[in-house]
Amino acid sequence: QKDGYDTFMLKEIHEQPHAISETLRGRIENKERIILPELDVIKSRFKTFNKAYFIACGTAYHACLSGANILERLTGIPTSTQAASEFRYGEPIIDEKTLCIFVSQSGETADTLAALRLAKAKKATVIAVANVLGSTISREATATIYTCAGPEIAVASTKAYTTQVIVLLLLAMYIAQTLGKKSEIYRDIIKDIILLPKQIKNILKDEKIFEKYANYLKKQHDAYYIGRNLDYASVLEGALKLKEVSYIHADAYIAGELKHGPIALIEKGSVVIAVATQPHIATKTISNIQETIARGAKVILFTLSNEEAGNVDEIYYMPNINPILQAILVAVPLQLIAYYAAKLKGCDVDKPRNLAKSVTVE
Ligand code: F6R
Repeated sequence: QKDGYDTFMLKEIHEQPHAISETLRGRIENKERIILPELDVIKSRFKTFNKAYFIACGTAYHACLSGANILERLTGIPTSTQAASEFRYGEPIIDEKTLCIFVSQSGETADTLAALRLAKAKKATVIAVANVLGSTISREATATIYTCAGPEIAVASTKAYTTQVIVLLLLAMYIAQTLGKKSEIYRDIIKDIILLPKQIKNILKDEKIFEKYANYLKKQHDAYYIGRNLDYASVLEGALKLKEVSYIHADAYIAGELKHGPIALIEKGSVVIAVATQPHIATKTISNIQETIARGAKVILFTLSNEEAGNVDEIYYMPNINPILQAILVAVPLQLIAYYAAKLKGCDVDKPRNLAKSVTVE
């Protein structure tokens, strides 16, 4: 069942090019239009939305952070992202002009389901993004768009995450297209989306490099992940993955927040993993890195080849694609770093302690 891989997690990391192809299948027409017939029932409401909430737990919540950023950029609809456990006990301001998007691999997460029921009761339009066909969340939503990741066995989510980001991107582009937003923008993105499976295959060829990066973490008690904008969602997910499977304490910070507190933690030998793939702010993150290097940190940087990175310990250049898509690509090395750090520590990667694949109780 593991197809020759040591663990399900590694197998599922390697399945991502296929999972993404499957998730895209039939959803892009003539390289210029998104097709999501699942949304026909609610399409006429798009022009009435005055805000959108993205709601989920854990890794799916990180996919939501990217999704919300992208929807706002492409449609101008103001968005907000909330952990389902907060949303359900908060007093969200919702009515029939609100779009609520719930993301769940299993489609059974208790907090996400309760949040969905609340949004429905308040008359919002409810879209689910789920991986498991016929799951409760998908049955109760007004419309469901499925990720086609196939079964995910390892507790730590990998292919479900990248396909969730893909679906949220397709959804944002579909809403933009329906609202009549400038088509050049999404046509440009589509050109690059089609290349994603190939790009991920190429990144996977560099697996040994990421295994080498994991060595920096072997003896660490803590790891610091930093990024800005879309890269912040990526580092949150990278840090969660590391915590879950290797039990190394990891935190993700908005790079610009470092000097407002967290930099006090940085000392000689601290390990900082930085993601700077968004051209308009990459240099800002890179200058934050220099501040950590000055305090003795070791830095692993993911950035674009035209960025001047200074004296970092390791640098990995991301392919040159539309910045909106970088979250999907950079997820892969971050997953592999977490995976190999856990392996080096002898952890049970597929079944981390204290965690369950599906959290059906609060
Ligand atoms: C982390 C992980 C969890 C889930 C979360 C939500 O690797 O798998 O954080 O993402 O429990 O689960 P779903 O997506 O099934 O609602």
